[in-house]
Amino acid sequence: ARKLIIDTDPGVDDAFALALAALSSEVDLLGVTTVHGNVPLSATTINARRILALCKRADVPVAAGAARPLVHRRRKEAGEVHGADGLSGRSAALPEPSRPLDERDAVTLLADLLEAADEPVTIAPIGPLTNIAALLAAHPAAAAKIERIVIMGGALGHGNTTAAAEFNIWSDPEAAQRVLAGDDAPCVLVPMDLTYRCAVGAAWLDELDSSGPIGAALHALTPDYREHYRGALGWDGMVIHDAVAVAEAIRPGTLRTDRVPVQVECSFGPGRGATHADRRLPALRASTDAPDAASDVDVAVDTDLDALRALLLD
Ligand code: BDR
Ligand code: CA
Repeated sequence: ARKLIIDTDPGVDDAFALALAALSSEVDLLGVTTVHGNVPLSATTINARRILALCKRADVPVAAGAARPLVHRRRKEAGEVHGADGLSGRSAALPEPSRPLDERDAVTLLADLLEAADEPVTIAPIGPLTNIAALLAAHPAAAAKIERIVIMGGALGHGNTTAAAEFNIWSDPEAAQRVLAGDDAPCVLVPMDLTYRCAVGAAWLDELDSSGPIGAALHALTPDYREHYRGALGWDGMVIHDAVAVAEAIRPGTLRTDRVPVQVECSFGPGRGATHADRRLPALRASTDAPDAASDVDVAVDTDLDALRALLLD
């Protein structure tokens, strides 16, 4: 089975993504690291541990990482989307974790797991990229063991946190630029343009609810989040961004990608946190110099929606 580590800020869609990886027979989930993001680090950490307890994965270590962005302090959370506790106010209803929080910090756990791995490891960051940037900067030898970094983040069109920027990238643009522009490991970027198209509807959620105790417990985390997306989408559905990225991490090729240069805007103007993906025709791209800081990234642009929704439910 493919080796996988998830870096996360649960978050309702993170909870879905974590459960997907924790329950999949196609991956060996080596560890989970937590980061600031949707709610403060203390909440994302307990949420991640409770989701693993729900999935009966006490074998998976969880370590807490960065409580704030790498360089700049300015930060916005997403409690209005995910609920004040990150899980529609239902976190405490989940099972208590039986495994203690790992004593190591996230970056140390990531480095230790990578160094110990006997085959390449996929990392799926589904929150701000602070921990991953710190890992790449501090542990180049461990980073050499990374097969792919499959990131939920970015926007090719409009953003969701500002007009230009998607939440995960906006939350730590400098870290995102370090990860995407570094030559440490190949990156796949799963932007919100595609995750929105993969939204699930009431019938899918009902099926999840009636699938068994874990499905029902995940479904119980959705009310606040679903209400937010009912407004955002204009219909009764939910965007499970992070689960789309983790599906690709589990089963490469689930998403169709285009390889294009990407640069993260780190200025403090209205474009802060934008992911500038150069999707011009190759001939036009070749006619002008690419910006120095842009690197080639596999950007996810399409998928077989029915197959993806079936995989997630399965
Ligand atoms: C991303 O932001 C968070 O709110 C979600 O968990 C997802 O990772 C979507 O923009
Ligand atoms: Ca997330």
